[in-house]
Amino acid sequence: MVSDIYQQRRIALLNQLPKNSLVLLAGYQQKVRSKNIKYHFRQDNNFFYLTGFGEPDAIALIVKAETTSFHLFLRPKDKVQEVNFGNRAGITGAIEHYNADHAYPVSGFTTQLLRLMEGVTSLYVCDENNRFSSDIVSWANHHRHSGSFDTPKQFVAIKQLAEVLHQHRLVKTEDEINNIRHAVKASTFAHKKVMQACCPDINERELSALFNFSVAKGGCSEVAYPNIVASGNNACCLHYEDNCCELKDGQMLLIDAGAEYQYYASDITRSYPVNGKFSDEQTAIYQIVLNALDRAIEIVKPGLSWNSINETCMKVMATGLKELGLLTGSIEHIMTTESYKRFTVHKTGHWLGMDVHDVGPYHDTAGNWRRLESGMVFTIEPGIYIPEDATDVPEVYRGMGIRIEDDVLVTDTGCENLSKAIPRTVDEIEAIMAETEV
Ligand code: GLY
Ligand code: MN
Ligand code: MN
Repeated sequence: MVSDIYQQRRIALLNQLPKNSLVLLAGYQQKVRSKNIKYHFRQDNNFFYLTGFGEPDAIALIVKAETTSFHLFLRPKDKVQEVNFGNRAGITGAIEHYNADHAYPVSGFTTQLLRLMEGVTSLYVCDENNRFSSDIVSWANHHRHSGSFDTPKQFVAIKQLAEVLHQHRLVKTEDEINNIRHAVKASTFAHKKVMQACCPDINERELSALFNFSVAKGGCSEVAYPNIVASGNNACCLHYEDNCCELKDGQMLLIDAGAEYQYYASDITRSYPVNGKFSDEQTAIYQIVLNALDRAIEIVKPGLSWNSINETCMKVMATGLKELGLLTGSIEHIMTTESYKRFTVHKTGHWLGMDVHDVGPYHDTAGNWRRLESGMVFTIEPGIYIPEDATDVPEVYRGMGIRIEDDVLVTDTGCENLSKAIPRTVDEIEAIMAETEV
């Protein structure tokens, strides 16, 4: 039996929906990589959050009428397919192991849906890949169209489940936080391994592979997003994924990589000198970014406006860049004109959870920035990027991207930096890079 946390989540969700609601959850389908080879399958997070069911092609219906019920549609057992591609839960397994009240083959979906739509006035849809987008309106109209012209008509409101569900996913439970902790722990081990292996002439792809290997040692089968292993100027591309260049003496390396555990992500970046020793210029830029991150972590607590984190980081970095002579004018002028954005490029964080850029609104219903609550998890990730074509900047700074990214949990009184064990000060980094083995 899958733990009944999924059942508890369904109950919590239904408690917020009006009576005579039907929730339609479309699971993901397999994607082709090439010809008859498929990508490794990963279930849609909303679907998994409410069902714990990880097989492709599934659909779930959750009904709130006089009573509530959970219906799971899935691939039936098939000996040949299972020998080729692995076990399926099948109809019996869906009931025994996933707490479904009823289970059917996917082929029976439309018949059951239309039967269950009888009396429904709100249809909550979660169909991230538009699997059913061309059918949903006709399903909602089905009963209204099928009676004669003078029978009572039933109008069905079609609503986005995400509007309700993503509020649930935003504030994490203890179980969810433990999964994130596990992912961070595996990432910690892996980032340290990569720091020790990093040296001139090694290829970015070798470090990426070492990260994946080390994450597996830490009990995680997947990374939460493609590794970014970016040496020198490559780090100025925020989502560089080619990971194919040789590291050169004198460059900085930026590695943004995070393990995933039980569908929960970590998302961590470290930046350090390829040869293990920061130059004065590298230290100067690095320290500005670290100061911004540390200052932001200091202010995080329940009640803080989400945007204060970004504002704080930008102020610290703008001040540092001005002191270094890379920005000119008064600090007021720099902040008003936002001239710092040339180097800081992106905002400094996002919610973290099942999705690496996790769901949940950044604003309240009045349109104000969201206030932090205990149990929220997010990244803080300031960065400074000086591309090699920034010819008005002294050459020693060019071709360098420095980002430092930590994963932060809001507690009742402040916050916990979940990823602080990964070396992040200049001294800590130089010390671990001088070692050869963890
Ligand atoms: N790794 C993607 C990000 O930091 O947002
Ligand atoms: Mn991030
Ligand atoms: Mn990242």
